Amino acid sequence: MSHQTVIVLDFGGQYNQLIARRVRECQVYCEVKPYTTPLEELRAMEPIGIIFTGGPNSVYEESSPKVDPAIFTWGVPILGICYGCQLMAHTLGGCVTAAQEDTAREYGRTPTFYDGGCPLFKGLPGQGISWMSHGDYMAKVPQGFSLVAHSQACPNVAIADVERGFYGVQFHPEVNHTEHGVDMIRNFLYEVCHAVGDWTMEDYKNTAIRQIREKVGDGKVLLALSGGVDSSVAAALLAEAVGSQLTCVFVDHGLMRKDEGDEVEAAFSKWDIHFVRVDAESRFLVRLAGVQEPEVKRHIIGEEFIRVFEEEAKKIGQVDYLVQGTIYPDVIESGAGDAAVIKSHHNVGGLPDYVDFKEIIEPLRLLFKDEVRQLGRELGLPEYLVMRQPFPGPGLAIRVMGDLTKEKLDTLREADFIFRDEIAKAGEDKNLSQYFAVLTNTRSVLALRAVNTTDFMTADWSRIPYDVLDKISTRIVNEVKGVNRIVYDITSKPPATIEWE
Ligand code: XMP
Repeated sequence: MSHQTVIVLDFGGQYNQLIARRVRECQVYCEVKPYTTPLEELRAMEPIGIIFTGGPNSVYEESSPKVDPAIFTWGVPILGICYGCQLMAHTLGGCVTAAQEDTAREYGRTPTFYDGGCPLFKGLPGQGISWMSHGDYMAKVPQGFSLVAHSQACPNVAIADVERGFYGVQFHPEVNHTEHGVDMIRNFLYEVCHAVGDWTMEDYKNTAIRQIREKVGDGKVLLALSGGVDSSVAAALLAEAVGSQLTCVFVDHGLMRKDEGDEVEAAFSKWDIHFVRVDAESRFLVRLAGVQEPEVKRHIIGEEFIRVFEEEAKKIGQVDYLVQGTIYPDVIESGAGDAAVIKSHHNVGGLPDYVDFKEIIEPLRLLFKDEVRQLGRELGLPEYLVMRQPFPGPGLAIRVMGDLTKEKLDTLREADFIFRDEIAKAGEDKNLSQYFAVLTNTRSVLALRAVNTTDFMTADWSRIPYDVLDKISTRIVNEVKGVNRIVYDITSKPPATIEWE
């Protein structure tokens, strides 16, 4: 693709993906690479700038991640953040030591003063809050660098060698707590690296469509559509690129939310693709009858899904390409740890083993979730699909406790619909990460669950206003037959999980 690239060199910090997202928000394409990536490989990417991330180590320790000093001779601008800043200082002849108690060790929000003459802080207020998290201190900065920001405790919060284009900050400009942090990143990109801002979704879409057409030729393409954001956007992209050669198989397992199956189908009606909606509700319910254990439910659903998909694929005959909705966070390698781990991810577990095809196409593998949503909008997918909250593959089967029946599923669907409807009417949907209803196995008791989270590994229960909860509860008990009591789940994760099963 013909866009400028910035490399985020990963030294194991917790905010590294966030740095990459910030760069892309500034309309500059970037990729995260582990610090162990060979220099030639990095160089071949022809970056216009490099950002060294933070990391948990101390640069003066023998075993801490290092960088080949040759990187400083390319003439490519470098921004070091926290550990990255210290590493730059250390490698270029400065001195980094453990901060003495109460001198320069800083954590959290810190009033900071900036030198407005430095390109990094151009056009920004001379002082503001920055987010610090460092226990080490640059006792001596390398030759050629000047001090361009300070705090009360620390004279060298930021350093710059304007001539060589090297900048280092002890704080984290990528986190929201740092005032004007994104502007500093933008300044690095535009003032220092001379970015032109050529990373736009329209451009991405057009390039991706062209590449897909070149690759696929007149081959046949198959895609398993789950109704989730990633597979829907991948399907829309393929539909735009090679519509007449594309078959989307949408396995409707009868465990979706109210109207969801119709919504997915409607969204794809504008493309001339081969859209197969398999009504598999009864076969799923037959297999799930009498099953209590959530893990067994999950297993049965996964297996049945593959079986249905396989049957449909056989009807289509030889397929050349299988499309997967893998996204960038699934493929990033971590810079920390002994061995770089690459997570493998399949939208539908195990599919490639069951279907005969030549190659996999992963058209979203360079995108973050918010970019996937943006691309979906660019392709004309409706907002309700693009902004869909995460929904587990096994669907409502794990939100009806214990035994599953169609009646129970219908009851849950109605209650869940009212919950979502009232949340949207109250304008609360933008404040919540995931929210849903659960039909408990205590007669006529329904639970509501809403959480706030960024990574779904930990989550806080959401403080939905009482009057909104009151309206939801009243409507559900009045309108949904068989529900007489509503409880609201106020446990966080951990110790609880987000789902009930
Ligand atoms: P838990 O309940 O583990 O949920 O705190 C974390 C996130 O994962 C989703 N989830 C699933 N997604 N298949 C999925 O595709 C599953 O079996 C499954 N179980 C939980 C859950 O909705 C939440 O977003």
